[in-house]
Amino acid sequence: MSRDQPDKTPQHIAVIMDGNGRWAQKRGLGRSAGHQAGVKATRQLVEGCARREIKVLTVFAFSSENWKRPEQEVSFLMELFRGTLRGEVDKLHENNIRVRFIGDLSGFRSGLQKDMLAADRKTSGNTGMRLNIAVNYGGRWELTQAMARIAAQIEGGQLQAADVNDELVARHTSIGDDPEPDLFIRTGGEQRLSNYLLWHLAYTELFFTDTLWPDFGVDELDRAIGFFNGRERRFGQTGEQIRDLENNA
Ligand code: FPP
Repeated sequence: MSRDQPDKTPQHIAVIMDGNGRWAQKRGLGRSAGHQAGVKATRQLVEGCARREIKVLTVFAFSSENWKRPEQEVSFLMELFRGTLRGEVDKLHENNIRVRFIGDLSGFRSGLQKDMLAADRKTSGNTGMRLNIAVNYGGRWELTQAMARIAAQIEGGQLQAADVNDELVARHTSIGDDPEPDLFIRTGGEQRLSNYLLWHLAYTELFFTDTLWPDFGVDELDRAIGFFNGRERRFGQTGEQIRDLENNA
């Protein structure tokens, strides 16, 4: 996409929502208040993306490393997830949004697991925006799972080693049926991927901002989309080849 092309909406946005704790600290509040404010920002993001006709939004709500946080914070987050899920699922469903949880759900208490699966089931037929929520998720975990499943199929004789290619690996990941993210957003000032969607972010445009997650609103979402529009995505080809392809489209 060149700069003089009309604006193009990214199809899939992947987000790391970082900075809740620091947002609270700056205000002399406990970390829980930061997470509560983070939920509000997430609600605005979901609404903002749906209005902008983004097809897929994938958010990182809880990483496999987040269990290492103080027990009190982890329990608070679990309660917050459960309460938010129960409070929001009907609204998401009314808005035709399909919700899916990706990650190792077996790490959660059975009540929360049931709520996650119920939300998934209730919204599975929806045809609007797809909302993927990564919980107890890690990119290496996901790839290891994919490899183990492929290896089992080879062992069982259903597959040959020669059948293993990009497409097959992608299909064995948790969001293999979605288009790959074309825009990644990370708030909170860190510039790293933190084991998020390692397979899927291979060609994604990366947008980092110092804004702390609770302060991230639709204005900044538009700024990130504007950044995406200013990029020329070459996928290994030259700029000239891409412009020729666009002119002949
Ligand atoms: C990062 O802030 C955020 C998290 C660890 C996850 C919690 C996310 C939310 C509460 C948003 C709501 C999401 C859903 C789907 C309900 P941090 O604690 O790492 O901040 P810090 O880096 O400033 O300490």
